[in-house]
Amino acid sequence: MKRSILFSGIFLSVTAVSFLISPPQNLQESMKRGKEVYLLHCQNCHMENGQGIEGVNPPVAKTTYLKDTKKNIGIILNGQTGEVVVNGKKYNAIMNPMNYLDDQQIADVLNYIRNSWGNKYPYISPAQVKTEREKPAKN
Ligand code: HEC
Repeated sequence: MKRSILFSGIFLSVTAVSFLISPPQNLQESMKRGKEVYLLHCQNCHMENGQGIEGVNPPVAKTTYLKDTKKNIGIILNGQTGEVVVNGKKYNAIMNPMNYLDDQQIADVLNYIRNSWGNKYPYISPAQVKTEREKPAKN
């Protein structure tokens, strides 16, 4: 009896510890892959350091725009047009839909920009991207 309590205690602590450790590890690996996606698909407009080009392409570094997870996923899947104000500056240009990126690539690139250059937002999983992708298009 005592022994089984001891074993389940050990089991529970191991599970708890691995649960506590795994999200940051996932995040780090996702960010590493996400950087590759960023350099290939986003850097030309938003620049390597995420600063964008003033008046043309908005920054993705230190923007509160990244707060809304679903909106972030939506921007990559559906693109973004019309006026946006990012860090107090107006932008009105076109970002094309990039729904040819798969769920993993979109999760990874968002994890990268959402946790680089002073940004710090929660981990996004490929399953969250899949959910947004399968939603019927608005308008
Ligand atoms: C062809 C240039 C171009 C490319 C490539 C591009 N974007 Fe954008 N992005 C823009 C423009 C322009 C806007 C603002 C559109 C508007 O005026 O509504 C924007 C807006 C955004 C926004 C919301 C506003 C902000 O700055 O926080 C995010 C987030 C974003 N892009 C991320 C990405 C990511 C991630 C990629 C790569 C997967 C990417 N973009 C690729 C041009 C681009």
